[in-house]
Amino acid sequence: MKITFLGHASLQIQIGETHILVDPFISGNPKASHMDINSLKADYILITHAHQDHILDVEAIAKRTGAILISNFEIVSYYQNKGIEGHPMNHGGSWEFDFGRVKYVNAIHTSSFPDGSNGGQPGGFVIEGEHKNIYIAGDTALTYDMKLIPLQTKLDLAILPIGDNFTMGIDDAIIASDFVECEKILGYHFDTFGYIEINHEVAKRKFFDKEKDLMLLEIGEYIEL
Ligand code: NI
Ligand code: MN
Repeated sequence: MKITFLGHASLQIQIGETHILVDPFISGNPKASHMDINSLKADYILITHAHQDHILDVEAIAKRTGAILISNFEIVSYYQNKGIEGHPMNHGGSWEFDFGRVKYVNAIHTSSFPDGSNGGQPGGFVIEGEHKNIYIAGDTALTYDMKLIPLQTKLDLAILPIGDNFTMGIDDAIIASDFVECEKILGYHFDTFGYIEINHEVAKRKFFDKEKDLMLLEIGEYIEL
């Protein structure tokens, strides 16, 4: 499993020959101005919630690639009305896709579309594929529901928001990594705008002091599990 950071909360995950985009917000991210959304491959697009900084490039990429959306019922319905194909899910549900198993899990946040449409309730994803398991938290507060994940899934990586203000900050993300029982963390949802700027060295040190590994990738950088 290869996971590429595309800036903010945008990820590209490659499982075998399948390309999965998560929360594509690239054309509107000033830090990602060197990225071209027309060069991104996508067989599926996972959407955690309907905020602008998670869905901005969904329509353009889905229409170019024919990618299938995976998100909550309201978000998938919104895009189906625009002629885009999708697989609706809801909290607690899992589905076996050709690349692996996906579960839509709880997040504490909000989820309206930029135009005011109902984006349902926000979520995160647990993905099991190629014998590797990852948790993508989405935008969320620290929540006790995270403790449910390791009851069923032994995680190889937890992708957690760390920028504070709109989501968990560093200290809560460390507790979240305890709740999901994962020592390897990829931080996201930081530095994109003023409200969520963090000190990288302080963040890494805090995780290190708890014997955990916080990875912060440059845009375009990837890790392999
Ligand atoms: Ni959000
Ligand atoms: Mn966000």
